[in-house]
Amino acid sequence: MTDWKNPPRLFIPGPVKVNEDVLQQLARPTLGHRGKEYAQLHGQTAKMLKEIFFTNQNVFISTSSASGIWEAAIRNCVAPDEKVLATCCGAFSDKWATVAKDCGREVDELKVEWGKPTTAEMIDEELATGKYAAITLVYNETSTGVTNPVNEISKMMREKYPDVLVFVDSVSAMVALPLRFDDLGWDVTFASVQKAFAIPPGLAVALVSNRALEKSKGIPARGYYFNFELWAKAAEKDQTLVTPNIPHIMALNYQCEKLLKEGMKNVWERHRQMGEFVRGWAKEKFDLFCEEKYASNTLTTVKNTRGINVAETIGAIQQKHNTIFGNGYGKLKDQTFRIAHMGDITLDDLKELLGWIEDEID
Ligand SMILES: Cc1ncc(COP(=O)(O)O)c(C=O)c1O
Repeated sequence: MTDWKNPPRLFIPGPVKVNEDVLQQLARPTLGHRGKEYAQLHGQTAKMLKEIFFTNQNVFISTSSASGIWEAAIRNCVAPDEKVLATCCGAFSDKWATVAKDCGREVDELKVEWGKPTTAEMIDEELATGKYAAITLVYNETSTGVTNPVNEISKMMREKYPDVLVFVDSVSAMVALPLRFDDLGWDVTFASVQKAFAIPPGLAVALVSNRALEKSKGIPARGYYFNFELWAKAAEKDQTLVTPNIPHIMALNYQCEKLLKEGMKNVWERHRQMGEFVRGWAKEKFDLFCEEKYASNTLTTVKNTRGINVAETIGAIQQKHNTIFGNGYGKLKDQTFRIAHMGDITLDDLKELLGWIEDEID
């Protein structure tokens, strides 16, 4: 019998394992959210986030998961009569397109086969029609393990379509993969903290460009909870619009300090090394699901070339070692399996897990 009080060690692509010292931050005495102690916590955290993401623009902390920001980007920054180009390369980018439609906007989908990236050329071809005010893009598609070529896409956008807003879902990328927000020229990007920040779920971090914030002021019916203009007014006072998830912000503060101490280049390199290691194993024992050039440094989607029973293998490892990894997502359930290598997961953790998988399959 599994027991939530004795949970498995997590190698699923989020939530990921959280270290004991981080968990302890969530147990600190609480603060009044309009008091000066909270303002200090908030101000310090926002300042560190600006350093981590190389930005002088707006950093918001949202008591929601990342999906809230999918909706916020659309409702705040796209006028009801404007059109969105939603790039879709897997379950999460597909879902964002649906959410944008649910927000009442007109959306065209640029779809690629699961396992393939969305490229700058594909987007360029669509934007050349002049129909779109904004694009949605996923940095790292967690359902397939593909990292989109965001640098080339961003360069193309800056050069050819500087007026089109760029919204990027960085949920399974933020912190682990390079993200220099101001240089990239993005307008909204975000992640929930249960991925590479290695904090339990319950909070999201969003970066919003000054121009997106300005534009939002003229958009009707933006709602209240996810209203960027109201968020910015609160942020000026080192506060949030509503009572935030303070324990999580304490953990976020703690993780930000650690990241800056390590140095972002080192953090990215650590993730690159973990990605390379797991990919090496996957190629030797199975195969990669996507082209190596686009394979993610935060999770590896392994192509199940040996036809193993994925659910049984995960179940056996859970039973013997109280550890789980991810099955394939949705339609890829048995054709692939996914191993997370982000946040506070280490190479030693990964060696142990891969050894256990080998014991089951060899
Ligand atoms: C790429 C991506 N976008 C969005 C989400 C949704 O995030 P949340 O569940 O925090 O709302 C996920 C969740 O795994 C994801 O991987």
